[in-house]
Amino acid sequence: MARKLAAGNWKMNGLKASLTEATALAEMFPAPSVDILLCPPFTLVGAMADALSGSKVAVGGQDCHTNSSGAHTGDISAEMLVDAGCGYVILGHSERRADHGETDALISAKTVAAIEAGLVAVVCVGETLEQREAGETLAVIRSQLAGSLPDSVDLAKLVIAYEPVWAIGTGKIPTLEQIAEVHDDMRATLSDRFGGGAADIPLLYGGSVKPTNADEIFATSNVDGALVGGASLKAADFSGIVTALENA
Ligand code: PGA
Repeated sequence: MARKLAAGNWKMNGLKASLTEATALAEMFPAPSVDILLCPPFTLVGAMADALSGSKVAVGGQDCHTNSSGAHTGDISAEMLVDAGCGYVILGHSERRADHGETDALISAKTVAAIEAGLVAVVCVGETLEQREAGETLAVIRSQLAGSLPDSVDLAKLVIAYEPVWAIGTGKIPTLEQIAEVHDDMRATLSDRFGGGAADIPLLYGGSVKPTNADEIFATSNVDGALVGGASLKAADFSGIVTALENA
């Protein structure tokens, strides 16, 4: 059985004052039955990790470089994230694939770097609306999984997030049947490649997850949690999603 994970992706949102949302969340879940993660922008990673130290809410980055240090202006390494108190990093989010031209090969190299540094890699995949309408969804997801994951990956340090690009920040979500179809196919694809250990990889759904739709999403086949953008910014919203996952 895969561990359950409620992960929040703050994207390019949050100033120092927002740390109170993180501490409020931690206070609501002193002994959660699921894993909880917040990924703030880099400017807040260290401060959030300090504020949450000793709590049950983990902190992660939203990207990392493939190298551990060097002449890469503006980049952050996995080693730096660990040093700042992170346990996780999101890799290959569709916004990074689109805004920064990240390829599957680059994401695979980042996954290697992240896991070598000791982080859990949350690797994102997802189809565009055009790809879904062309009937290419499963082929796109299989191809992204094939290219974005290194052969040598430590399965205990891997989380996959299925995030249909057209569902992110739009309020639209796939039908539960569509989510199940992709998640079941991802489990089968990962099992074919990595063997029985793939059963333990948490498979998150992401894209317009809210407290109001979390229950039904978490009841869906092979959904082990969520990667949440907008609804992770406020403890009052995210706590509803965490509770739904605890009750699933
Ligand atoms: P959303 O974002 O919850 O705001 O749709 C999800 C994500 O991109 O991780």
